[in-house]
Amino acid sequence: MLSAAVILVGGQGTRLRPLTYQLPKPMIPVLNRPFLEHTLAYLKNYEVGSTILALSYLPEAIQSHLGDGANLGMPLNYAVEAKALGTAGAVKNAESYLESTFAVLNGDIFTDLDLGDMLTFHRRKRAKATIALTWVDNPCAFGVVETEGDGRVRRFTEKPSPDRVTTNWINAGIYILEPEVLRHVPEASHYMFERGLFPRLLELDEPVYGYPFSGYWLDMGTPEKYLRLNCDLLSVKVASHLIPGLSQDGIYCEADATIHPSASIASPVVIGGGCRIDQGVQIKGPVVIGAGCHIGEGASLERAVLWTGVSVKAGSCLKQCLVNRSEIGGKEQIIDFSHP
Ligand code: GDD
Ligand code: MG
Repeated sequence: MLSAAVILVGGQGTRLRPLTYQLPKPMIPVLNRPFLEHTLAYLKNYEVGSTILALSYLPEAIQSHLGDGANLGMPLNYAVEAKALGTAGAVKNAESYLESTFAVLNGDIFTDLDLGDMLTFHRRKRAKATIALTWVDNPCAFGVVETEGDGRVRRFTEKPSPDRVTTNWINAGIYILEPEVLRHVPEASHYMFERGLFPRLLELDEPVYGYPFSGYWLDMGTPEKYLRLNCDLLSVKVASHLIPGLSQDGIYCEADATIHPSASIASPVVIGGGCRIDQGVQIKGPVVIGAGCHIGEGASLERAVLWTGVSVKAGSCLKQCLVNRSEIGGKEQIIDFSHP
């Protein structure tokens, strides 16, 4: 059993701007539900003493939505930073909740990693810190982790230039830690696991291990990856703990949506409450349509995610895109990252 899990919810999500101007990255809807709810549903599968949200960016948006966690059936605690403390500083700020072995999760990761198995590995190795490792094609945007044959970490290099990449195994943003490692994290100062604590523990020759896994893993922090996550969940490339029973053949439509009989809808598709879909519309999943959207006559949508209240003009053609109008009042905004 883990005494606690800390979810890191900070940083401005710069690669998802402008979506993150008013919404912190973990509140961005995935299948019409805040991303963080997916993470919490995942954590609920494990024996975790308490869940702490370490917040720095737009904390009120998260606290007012999740409250004490009663609606989710899991008690939540908050450790709010007056100013961003960095990844390790944020966990230090939650130290009073951390009595024995605990987990830390980056708040923008979707994975099916087996946390129970990772904990068994951590205990077997008598590690002070265990870092989950996933294999990626291009490691430069991540923390690159070199290990010995027995899994002990030899080197941790955050976001290396291409000539310094020595392996494709990267830090998956999930750690199991012993509370004593927080001794090395300064109080109330900005300090990172990636550039501070992990390199420091290695210098001190502390037992830091890498736990490689091959399951689903995605950092949803760019528009392309965010779209991919929605599509992967709908196409059941990875199971959703929040919305179990999704199927590739599914058309999930809230009862009060109005769909013209001539509209053609090919699964998998989610249609939020109060949507209106007009004559001759063609929808080819995976597509997610937020609550209160209006899809005008003859419009077509393919591999798209629409946020709440989007109005798609008659005859428009939206493909490979994410549409959100939450912050531009009145006019829709299309973040276009279409691929050929
Ligand atoms: N509370 C708090 N305070 N959280 C923070 C802060 C802070 O000051 N800074 C960052 N975070 C949170 C972010 O909200 C995110 O959930 C997580 O820490 C990681 O930050 P990102 O900004 O998403 O980092 P990254 O994706 O570039 O790199 C990190 O994740 C990679 C895996 O996706 C690093 O940990 C890499 O080593 C790793 O490979
Ligand atoms: Mg990230």
